[in-house]
Amino acid sequence: MKILVLHGPNLNLTGFREPELYGKKPLAEIDDEIQASAKELGVEVRILQSNHEGVLIDTIQENRKWADAIVINPGAFTHYSIALRDALASVRSPVVEVHLSNVHAREDFRRESVIAPVTVGQITGLGSIGYSLALRALVNLENPSA
Ligand code: DQA
Repeated sequence: MKILVLHGPNLNLTGFREPELYGKKPLAEIDDEIQASAKELGVEVRILQSNHEGVLIDTIQENRKWADAIVINPGAFTHYSIALRDALASVRSPVVEVHLSNVHAREDFRRESVIAPVTVGQITGLGSIGYSLALRALVNLENPSA
């Protein structure tokens, strides 16, 4: 199984920006954890972070044939990017939305996700382990008896 993992805008500063919300672990460390979980689960991952909506959309389209599933933390795009939502909807592979912080326990505008309706589920507020949980959930979805 092949899974595309995407981190949206400002997530490159994870570990340094608002650590009380997003944790103290730099993104490179989180990516190492994702790779380790992928290895354990026997799946292949491609990971990309971008601050640019168009780059995220291009990457989703370019990996349309490669990716069996997608894990995405869309950052602030979660709350308003219809273009990103349409890109995810168009590829038809299952998508899990991940947030480091609990978006439902913060400002009102963070409670709305325009991405969530095109996903199989959302993991929010559990920190970086959310990515590993998302990989597990997608593997289980593809092969429920594994
Ligand atoms: C976030 C939550 C978003 O509201 C915010 O804009 C982010 C990070 C999270 O991981 O908790 O950039 O996606």
